[in-house]
Amino acid sequence: MDINIIFKNNETWVSEKLGLDPDYFKKLAEGQKPEVLYIGCSDSRVTAEEMMGATPGDAFVHRNIANLVSNLDLSAMSVINYAVVYLEVNHIIVCGHYGCGGVKAAMQSKDLGILNPWLRNIRDVYRIHRNELNAIPDEEVRYKRLVELNVQEQCVNVIKTSDVQLAYRKRGLTVHGWVFDVQTGKLIDLKIDYDTILKGIREIYHLD
Ligand code: CO
Repeated sequence: MDINIIFKNNETWVSEKLGLDPDYFKKLAEGQKPEVLYIGCSDSRVTAEEMMGATPGDAFVHRNIANLVSNLDLSAMSVINYAVVYLEVNHIIVCGHYGCGGVKAAMQSKDLGILNPWLRNIRDVYRIHRNELNAIPDEEVRYKRLVELNVQEQCVNVIKTSDVQLAYRKRGLTVHGWVFDVQTGKLIDLKIDYDTILKGIREIYHLD
């Protein structure tokens, strides 16, 4: 993308929106009431809004390398708190993607400096699921499965927060795990079965 064309593109976009509704930005400026919080990867190919057909105001968005939800990440924790408690979203989506560079890097032994502590979260996912992953002989299939399991574990990390637990009890807030397939453009719902994966461990993280 040519950096010099951005402001020109912006002008075109503004006139398109105003063409549809002269009050478009006036209404947008009034406030937001998004229904979903989307947590995804920073990867430039995985556009949060465009692939969901979402428009401005539809989704509160948080993106980082490999769509991680770390309990020590003040940014992610603040986003979840604000979205759940103040915006009162009813759905939280954690969306990973096949071909994720962050997940790939975590499958290798390379020292990546400042990225090491971040990617260690994915190595921990690998450790938790090592029996299943090590039983997959094909590296590409194993890589895809780690992408899925990483989404699953990040969904569990979302559920570990007190705000989410309270919103679940109060209004049935739901946490969805999805994967975007860059090769086909399709979104896949992993249909995570929390009753099964949290069996015997739910009480460890339960907060009143
Ligand atoms: Co990625």
